[in-house]
Amino acid sequence: MTVSISDFKQAMGSFPTGVTVTTAHDAQGAVVGMTASAFSSVSLDPLLVLMCPAKDAECYTALTEARYFSIHILSGEQASLAWQFAKSGIEKTHGLSMSSGPNGAPKIAGCLVYLECERHALYDGGDHGILLGAVRYLEMADSATPPLVYCRSQLGPLPPL
Ligand SMILES: Cc1cc2nc3c(=O)[nH]c(=O)nc-3n(C[C@H](O)[C@H](O)[C@H](O)COP(=O)(O)O)c2cc1C
Repeated sequence: MTVSISDFKQAMGSFPTGVTVTTAHDAQGAVVGMTASAFSSVSLDPLLVLMCPAKDAECYTALTEARYFSIHILSGEQASLAWQFAKSGIEKTHGLSMSSGPNGAPKIAGCLVYLECERHALYDGGDHGILLGAVRYLEMADSATPPLVYCRSQLGPLPPL
């Protein structure tokens, strides 16, 4: 019996995740990036995280070739930021307050966590890449702020547990 893509997507949609935005500079110096729920902590020694960008994403080459990239964990109030970085063909940083991490990777103001990563490895993951980053710098906001969660195509703040 074959598993259909739509059943697979529906089943995976029942697994709640946090929401991140990964950004980097492209070869022209423009900030590019995408919303990604495929994100995980991987290793403590060295400190490694992974995210999985689709190979057909416009920002794929920039994200996977940049020496430094950044991963922002979104707060419960940042659903509109998640939708903004999930749209192709727009200027992703429109209306945002941007700065840089110590190694120059783009930084979006107001996120729950900022991780500045150095490219560690890129593995094949079918129609996605598996991008590992070594965490070189991090900032955290107030831990009382709820994170944004994604489940069954809905985005919203994590309710009190
Ligand atoms: C909540 C949410 C989670 C997403 N997670 C991923 C993901 O993990 N990997 C991915 O490739 N695309 C993911 N997407 C879709 C991308 O954000 C979207 O296709 C983006 O526009 C791709 O970047 P591009 O504009 O450079 O093509 C997600 C979208 C949403 C709304």
